[in-house]
Amino acid sequence: MLERLEELRHEGLTAVEASNSEDELREIEVRLLGRKGALTDLLKSLGTLPKEDRPAAGQAANRVKQEIAAQIEVARGKLHAFNLATDLAGDGLDATLPGPKPPAGGLHPLGQIARELEDVFQSMGFRIADGPEVELEDNNFDALNIPADHPARESHDTIWVTPEGDGRGKGKGVCMRTHTSCVQIRALREHGAPLRVVAPGRVFRQETPDPTHDHTFHQMEGLVVDKGVGVHHLLHAMNTLLEGVFGRKVETRLRPGFFPFVEPGFELDARCPFCKTGCRVCKQSTWIELMPGGMIHPNVLRACDIDPDVYSGYAFGLGLSRMVMLRYGIDDIRWLLSGDLRFLEQFRA
Ligand code: PHE
Repeated sequence: MLERLEELRHEGLTAVEASNSEDELREIEVRLLGRKGALTDLLKSLGTLPKEDRPAAGQAANRVKQEIAAQIEVARGKLHAFNLATDLAGDGLDATLPGPKPPAGGLHPLGQIARELEDVFQSMGFRIADGPEVELEDNNFDALNIPADHPARESHDTIWVTPEGDGRGKGKGVCMRTHTSCVQIRALREHGAPLRVVAPGRVFRQETPDPTHDHTFHQMEGLVVDKGVGVHHLLHAMNTLLEGVFGRKVETRLRPGFFPFVEPGFELDARCPFCKTGCRVCKQSTWIELMPGGMIHPNVLRACDIDPDVYSGYAFGLGLSRMVMLRYGIDDIRWLLSGDLRFLEQFRA
């Protein structure tokens, strides 16, 4: 019995050693260790031995069984590692195949329109100006000739950073800028006259968001101060800008409008790009309010140490968010800052 066992052990280990495929290993496993395998048969025949020999013979047979099983596992591991290495080194791998592509990003439609307009204005000799989004009350209101009791300063319109009563209304408060007009003041105080700037940026208001209002939106301020600047200059700049955005001449009209920092002040309307006879977007009027503007109020120039008897200027405040909506026919402003990729992916440029 022990001899037969040794024979089987030898047969098993040699076979495992010689094998070089998973199939061969499985065959050895079945032939020796399987339910009808040689070692199993041997274990079954233990009953034919004298009683006192059985435990030793049983243990010896189990040891051999385990030894062969272990060697089969080792051989399997080696085979696997070998196959992997040949796959990697040989025909299995083409290192020149392109890898998975990382998803490409793109400019937000607001960023795209801002860049296009910056190009249009830079070609007309404007420089790009910038200012902080958290702004001094003086720049956002006082220097812009907005009276201390003007309703726009109330907290239902302005998001204040300084606590109630803390210099607010006396020009000493701090707020989230409510428009980009405060950059007019910063630019004029920094550079003086003559000056031509545009200032794109985010502005903030106390609003309950709905399809046409958001608490955060984008504007682009334009400002020109020089000798002999008149309304016709303003009109020309506004029309050039619209052509730049819509890629063609747009019919416009001017209405009076009131803003404390301009005199006279205007609202520029454009013919509705979506219809001929009236639609939802233009509220059936065929005109769309696009851009307020006007001649800079002498008090604003004085607040920036510029003599209004020598210099005059115009300013306009373009609603960038509005422009993007008109350009692409977007019916809800809240999409713009939603961060929703289903929306943004349509504008990949
Ligand atoms: N700042 C004004 C607003 O946000 C727009 C404006 C800018 C009006 C420049 C006139 C001139 O409503």
